[in-house]
Amino acid sequence: MTARLLPGAPAAAALLADVAARAARLPAPPRLVMVRLGDDPASVSYVRGKDRQARAAGLESTVHALPEATTQAELLALIAGLNADPAVNGILVQLPLPAHVSEQAVLHAIDPRKDVDGFHPVNVGELWAGRPALRPCTPAGILFLLDHYGLPVVGQRAVVVGRSHIVGRPLAGLLLNRDATVTVAHSRTPDLAAVTREADLLCVAVGQPHLITPGMVKAGATVIDVGINRVPGQDGGKAHLTGDVDPAVAEVAGAITPVPGGVGPMTIAQLLANTVTAAEMQAG
Ligand code: GUN
Repeated sequence: MTARLLPGAPAAAALLADVAARAARLPAPPRLVMVRLGDDPASVSYVRGKDRQARAAGLESTVHALPEATTQAELLALIAGLNADPAVNGILVQLPLPAHVSEQAVLHAIDPRKDVDGFHPVNVGELWAGRPALRPCTPAGILFLLDHYGLPVVGQRAVVVGRSHIVGRPLAGLLLNRDATVTVAHSRTPDLAAVTREADLLCVAVGQPHLITPGMVKAGATVIDVGINRVPGQDGGKAHLTGDVDPAVAEVAGAITPVPGGVGPMTIAQLLANTVTAAEMQAG
């Protein structure tokens, strides 16, 4: 069997069409403000992509590109100003932050109603309580992708490999809210393969190239690969991106997201959806 491929682009396009329609119904275009410190190439590239797509979807977007040496007090003062500005609907501080700035202090300082990353403890708590709130973008985008392709969640045995605050933990919460039976596995899980083989829905967000091999997957399972690993080319060839799931898993799985081009496009589309949701909540 060869798995059905689940590309992110069509699902992201459907989500973005909904974003544009909802944005057009608001009295003013939703405004997203992003902040990044320093010149980490991945962060520069991610924020540029988010900014470009926000504008393309009819949102307003502003980027504050601050020096690496910006102090925590300066960053907190900027956030306080953005919290107080009614023209700002969504605030995103790109992670990781330099070591001299406390990520926790920064994430706690963002007004939860403008927290389009869904990382503020109020939004984390609401997620785990099963109440409406702004949801972390990658996990919420994965749920949208599953729904877009008509893949079931209710009653499924879901295994999430990885327990990060950005993906693994919130994804487990969202799947639980949708009535999946959820197991969270991680680097200290003994006999990982025995756990992953139980999964009807296997989501992997670890950051280890090809951690999941065909023998670790139940026949017909849906596999969501969140990994984006840059691996050097062989024999002087070009570096390329690869997932946490061995591509040979496609011979066993029922459906699988490609890397690149699977979950990746969903994250930005969901960020823009969250920005519209934030603007709608603030409007009424
Ligand atoms: N860095 C990597 N992923 C993310 C994300 O989803 N949000 C923010 N703010 N920073 C990130």
